Amino acid sequence: MVVAPTHLLAALLALGTLVDSSLASAVPDADKLATSSSDSTSLESAFSSLNATVGGRLKSAVPFEAPCFSIVEGQSVQADTAACSAIQASYTDPTFRVTHFGAYMLPQWETCQSSQTTEGCLLDSSNPTNPLAINGVNCQLGNVPPYYIEVNSYKDVQAALAFSNSTGVRLSVKNKGHDYKGRSSGKDTLNLWTTNLRSLSHSATFTPEGCEGKTYDAITTGAGVFTQDVYQFADSVNRTIIAGYHQTIGFSGGYFLGGGHSILSPVYGLAADRVVQVKIVTPDGVYRTANECQNTDLFFALRGGGGSAFGVVIESTHRVEPLFPIQAAVLKFTPSASTDLAAWYSLMVDNSYKWANEGWGGHIVGPTLIHVTPLLSTEEARASMQPAVDFVTAHNGTVTIEELPSYLAFFTKYVTSAQAAVGPEIELGTRLIPSKFFSTAEGRSQLSALINDTLSFASPYIVAGTPWLFNATAGATAVTPAWRDAIWHLSVRAELFQYNDTLAERVAKYQGLSEHIQKFRDLTPGSGAYFNEGDVYEPDHETAYWGDNYAKLLAVKQKYDPQGLLDCWQCVGWKGESDDLYQCHVKL
Ligand SMILES: Cc1cc2nc3c(=O)[nH]c(=O)nc-3n(C[C@H](O)[C@H](O)[C@H](O)COP(=O)(O)OP(=O)(O)OC[C@H]3O[C@@H](n4cnc5c(N)ncnc54)[C@H](O)[C@@H]3O)c2cc1C
Ligand SMILES: *[C@@H]1O[C@H](CO)[C@@H](O)[C@H](O)[C@H]1NC(C)=O
Ligand SMILES: *[C@@H]1O[C@H](CO)[C@@H](O)[C@H](O)[C@H]1NC(C)=O
Ligand SMILES: *[C@@H]1O[C@H](CO)[C@@H](O)[C@H](O)[C@H]1NC(C)=O
Ligand SMILES: *[C@@H]1O[C@H](CO)[C@@H](O)[C@H](O)[C@H]1NC(C)=O
Ligand SMILES: *[C@@H]1O[C@H](CO)[C@@H](O)[C@H](O)[C@H]1NC(C)=O
Ligand SMILES: *[C@@H]1O[C@H](CO)[C@@H](O)[C@H](O)[C@H]1NC(C)=O
Ligand SMILES: *[C@@H]1O[C@H](CO)[C@@H](O)[C@H](O)[C@H]1NC(C)=O
Repeated sequence: MVVAPTHLLAALLALGTLVDSSLASAVPDADKLATSSSDSTSLESAFSSLNATVGGRLKSAVPFEAPCFSIVEGQSVQADTAACSAIQASYTDPTFRVTHFGAYMLPQWETCQSSQTTEGCLLDSSNPTNPLAINGVNCQLGNVPPYYIEVNSYKDVQAALAFSNSTGVRLSVKNKGHDYKGRSSGKDTLNLWTTNLRSLSHSATFTPEGCEGKTYDAITTGAGVFTQDVYQFADSVNRTIIAGYHQTIGFSGGYFLGGGHSILSPVYGLAADRVVQVKIVTPDGVYRTANECQNTDLFFALRGGGGSAFGVVIESTHRVEPLFPIQAAVLKFTPSASTDLAAWYSLMVDNSYKWANEGWGGHIVGPTLIHVTPLLSTEEARASMQPAVDFVTAHNGTVTIEELPSYLAFFTKYVTSAQAAVGPEIELGTRLIPSKFFSTAEGRSQLSALINDTLSFASPYIVAGTPWLFNATAGATAVTPAWRDAIWHLSVRAELFQYNDTLAERVAKYQGLSEHIQKFRDLTPGSGAYFNEGDVYEPDHETAYWGDNYAKLLAVKQKYDPQGLLDCWQCVGWKGESDDLYQCHVKL
């Protein structure tokens, strides 16, 4: 029996014990649906038995910000001032947001963006105590999945897949909620929250199952392990792990599945290059081990194929490196003349080919550069950075070039205070910039000119985190081959969404971003973009994210997901924007 997803809440509303009464108004005509639908009774009992199967870990969601509001789902309630103050004080703190199921790092994905006004429950991220966002405002669940299972083991995932298969209730998968494209939320979906799968172990002689005789120095992590924790664990066993530039990204879920860049990637490769085994429940309900010796087609797809399209990861194993000292360069200045930023970016363009060849990776965000290299001595690092040091010094900025004993020491000292913001409603578009825009005079001048044009809209966020020096095995990963010849992964941020934007304003902001990122697409025909950080409305996303790998990926998708049970926005085998799963995505 298959019922329409709109029956999800309706059926649950009939279940007095199952549903939080505040949700009763989430579907305006819920009562009507609940009483008129004969399917609701069987859905209700299917939900009850699912809850029993997962040991009572089926939960109903509440909006993260709900304690601040006196109207929740249309009903008058007592606001909880103490809880609200805590939320306001930590609204942009990732370690706080990540503990709440109803919170997403980019809060626009908590809301139903396709609604004419705002169907959600946001505070004003630029001033979380702004009473205009709260007083008299109806706090709604919006795009947050109304129900979720706190996944404890692969069996929970199997139960949810069987439930979805027989009821038609759609699934979504969330880990730490960093997704820039809304792939981990979804109105009316049942969500699988893998955040609590936190195992960590190390083996200097890890053998992928079925690969007797082959060993790797590797760390195995549960899907829900924080990037911060995997860095600390690796350091504690005298190893370096190659991971992302933020404390609370889930290392072993969406990050490596989408490719996963690090500022150590220029030397050590993408996360997709370094994974050696994945344990995953594929959408056909089977708990599988994928590595170079078994389920090799699936393993290929999991190395950059992305999102939850190929199943729900329970744990994964990744190669590590010995502990090594690292050279760090941290340069900042305050632009004074209007041409300072353009001159600075132009200097960045001119030096990045040399820097890439010397193993430097890092971020350039407006007038700030933070780079590291494991390949140079401190003296060599100073000489290499001299042109940038001269520029920053001439602009009265600050310069630090120093050796740190480990990547963790660097991360702790420099990254936790510089990592990308969460809480504001940020939206990105990206492009992989090929090496010829750094190695040739013509390319450099074209790229610098386009960046100069873009500056009136936004300062590009540059990640020097492509696998430039890494010796990849041809054909082993699913990411677009454009990664291998790129030196920058460049992103442009849209004007921030506001808590009270209208639909027309959201459309305008998405379109404004697309126009700017389109200029970088036009400059770099045949290149691609990073799946996890791409434009929500990436045109020809199959080619942009996977290039020639797409046909093979689609075949793997069809093999392991014959019923089409898992789908996500612009993922492999995507059902398209008109699918009910995307009812809250704006249609441009
Ligand atoms: C502040 C910030 C900094 C970032 N920095 C970097 C960076 O340095 N390098 C980089 O490469 N990326 C970076 N990203 C992008 C990041 O890697 C992706 O957004 C990543 O998917 C986030 O993982 P998550 O668990 O936090 O997100 P979620 O939103 O929970 O999930 C992201 C995607 O993965 C899927 N997913 C989650 N868990 C599982 C699972 N167990 N099995 C299968 N699918 C799953 C979700 O369905 C969704 O499609 C950054 C993002 C943010 C917001
Ligand atoms: C699932 O069962 C547990 C334990 O019986 C109960 O506390 C919980 O509320 C149920 N979940 C839902 C969504 O009703
Ligand atoms: C879904 O249902 C089909 C047919 O009813 C069955 O063959 C398949 O195994 C089911 N899949 C899951 C994950 O339960
Ligand atoms: C890590 O290295 C230090 C210094 O060489 C040593 O004292 C320590 O025992 C090592 N720890 C592990 C877990 O190998
Ligand atoms: C740097 O500081 C000096 C001394 O205070 C000042 O004369 C000069 O104008 C400053 N330069 C810039 C670019 O701000
Ligand atoms: C940069 O853009 C400005 C206008 O925003 C223009 O005046 C200037 O000539 C441009 N500089 C270069 C080097 O293209
Ligand atoms: C890639 O391979 C070449 C040739 O074997 C080697 O010299 C180089 O050091 C390797 N690069 C990296 C980053 O390991
Ligand atoms: C949103 O709220 C701000 C004040 O916080 C106000 O200035 C602005 O006009 C509002 N926008 C809309 C579309 O209501």
